[in-house]
Amino acid sequence: MTAASQLTATGPRTTKEETVRTTPPRYSRQPREAGSAAPGGPGLADTEVPALIVKIGRYPLHHGGVAAIRTLGRLGVPVYAITEDSLTPAAVSRYCRGSFVWPTTGREDPEELVDGLMAIGAKIGRRTLAVPTDEEAAVLLAEHASPLSAHFLLPDVQPGLPRKLASKQGLYELCREHGVPAPASAFPSTPAALASFAGQASFPLVAKNLEAWVRRRAPVVGGTTMLGTEQELLAAAEDWGQEPSVILQEYIPREHAQDWIVHLYCDAESNCLVEFTGIKLRSWPPHAGMTACARTVANPELAAAAARFCKAIGFSGIADLDWRLDLRDGQYKLLDFNPRAGAQFRLFETEAGLDVVRAMHLDLTGRPVPASPQVNGRKLIVENVDPLARLAYRRRGRARPQAGARPERDLTLASRVPAGQAAPSPDQDRAERTELAWIAADDPVPFLAMLVRLAGPALGHLSRVWRTRQVRRRAARTARAAQTASRDRRPPPGPADLAGPAPASEGTSRAAGTAAGTALAASTVSSSENSAVAGPEIRPAMLAGQRKDDWS
Ligand SMILES: Nc1ncnc2c1ncn2[C@@H]1O[C@H](COP(=O)(O)OP(=O)(O)O)[C@@H](O)[C@H]1O
Ligand SMILES: [Mg+2]
Repeated sequence: MTAASQLTATGPRTTKEETVRTTPPRYSRQPREAGSAAPGGPGLADTEVPALIVKIGRYPLHHGGVAAIRTLGRLGVPVYAITEDSLTPAAVSRYCRGSFVWPTTGREDPEELVDGLMAIGAKIGRRTLAVPTDEEAAVLLAEHASPLSAHFLLPDVQPGLPRKLASKQGLYELCREHGVPAPASAFPSTPAALASFAGQASFPLVAKNLEAWVRRRAPVVGGTTMLGTEQELLAAAEDWGQEPSVILQEYIPREHAQDWIVHLYCDAESNCLVEFTGIKLRSWPPHAGMTACARTVANPELAAAAARFCKAIGFSGIADLDWRLDLRDGQYKLLDFNPRAGAQFRLFETEAGLDVVRAMHLDLTGRPVPASPQVNGRKLIVENVDPLARLAYRRRGRARPQAGARPERDLTLASRVPAGQAAPSPDQDRAERTELAWIAADDPVPFLAMLVRLAGPALGHLSRVWRTRQVRRRAARTARAAQTASRDRRPPPGPADLAGPAPASEGTSRAAGTAAGTALAASTVSSSENSAVAGPEIRPAMLAGQRKDDWS
C-alpha cells in the first residue's frame, strides 16, 4: 500500500466546517484584546493568513493548543486545528474555524505524517502558519520544511536543530559546547553500560526519556522520575530493554532549587523578538512535571542567558525552556528546551499585548513585532491539575518540612535568591492578574468539554483511591487484632514490663495513620500504568488517559 493510499484510509478527515463553525467568531462579544484599538487587537495581525495547530500524538486535554487557537482567533486570524476527534476542547472552541480529525500516535512513518499535513494544507487552500504544540510536530515541520513550505509558513531554522534540542543528549552537548550550565548527565545506551554507571553513580538521580519520537515508541519512564538508590535504578532498568533511551541526571534537591521558565520567539537571525521569564510555583506530577501554577517574574540575567544561547545555536521559532536555579552554586541549569509553544505560554504577555504565538504570526507574515516589556504580576493556573498539585504540595510539605512546606513562599521570596544576584522585587510576588488555562468568558465550551472528558478517568481514579484505602484499613485492622491477640496470650506483666517502652499498639496506630494519610499517593503507584517504575508520584495519565510527556 502506498503512502498516498494509506492516507485515504487513515489520513486526516476534515470536520465539515459548516457543522463545526457555521459563522466566524463574533468579535463583538470579545474582551479587551479584540475590542478596538487596544494593543494586540484586530488590525495588528494579517487576518488573511490562517494558522494550523499541529499536533502529533494523543493528548486531547491540552490547554496550550486551546490557548493558541484563542490568542490568534481573538485577533481575527482563522485558526484550524488537528484534533483526535471532533469533540476535543480545541475542536469546540469558538475560535476554531475548522478541525481536522486525525488521530496519530507518533509511531507513524514521517512520510505518512508529511502526506497528511500536505493534504490538510491543500484543504485549507491558503498558505498557513503552522504552530506545533509538541516536540514531534516541531521536529517533523523542521525536517520536512522543504515540501511543507508549499502550504505552510515555517520559521527558518536549520532542519536538524529542533531534533537536537528536543533530545536531552543533544541539548546537553549543546550546553557543553556553549558554556551553558546543565546538571551532570549520563546516557548509558546498553544494559552493561547502565550497570557499570549504577555502580559508581551518586543517588538520588533523575531518569527521563531521551528523545522525541522514541519517547512515544519505547518510553522508559512515564515522566521525570527520581531514583533513590542503585537498587531502584537497576530494578527500573529491567524494563528498559537492550537499548535504553534514557538520560540519568544529577538530582538538584528541591530545597535548594527554583524552577524557572523562559518563553521566547526568535526571528530568522536568531534574535529574540519577545522573551519572557517566570517561575513555576507548582507542577504536576509534584516537583517533576508540567506547570500547574506559575507566575511571571522579571529575570534579566536569565533572559540574557537564554537569548545568548538561542543566538549561538542559530535557533529560530518559538521555544519553551526549563531552567533549575541551583541555589548551592547560584547557577541556572538548563534542563529542557522545547522548540515549540509551551502549554502555559499564555502566562506571558508584553505590554503591547503580544505572546509568543502572536509574535510568530506577525513576524512570519512580514509585520513588525513591537518591542515591549513583559507584564509582571501575572499568574497562570491550570484548573484541571492545580487543585491536585496544591493538595500534594501541602501533604508533602507536612510530611517533610525540611523540603519546603510552603512552596509558593519558598519559590517567590527574595530570601531564596543566591548571593550576588539581584532579588526579584517584592511587588513581583503579588499576582495582579490570574490567567486561567481553560475558563474564558468569551469561549466557555472548551472548559466544559474538558470537564466532561476528565470526568470518566477521574471517577475511575477516585474509585481506585477508595478501594486502596479500604484494603489498607482492613490490613491495619487485621494487624491490630493480631497484636491484641498476641498481647492477650502473654503472661500478666511484671514490674519490669510496666516500666518498659511504649505499648506496641502505639506504633501500629501511627502506622495506620500514615497509611491512611498516604493512601492517595500509594494508590497512584499501584495504578500508574504509564510508569515504568514505581515511585511516589501521582501521574496525570490517570486523570486524563494520557502520558505526562503530552502535557508540558
Ligand atoms: N535534574 C533534576 N533535578 C531535580 N529536578 C528536576 C531535574 N530535572 C527535572 N526536574 C524537575 O522535573 C521537571 C520536568 O523536567 P524536564 O527536564 O523539563 O522534563 P520534561 O521533558 O518532561 O518536561 C522540571 O521542571 C523540574 O521541576
Ligand atoms: Mg520540561
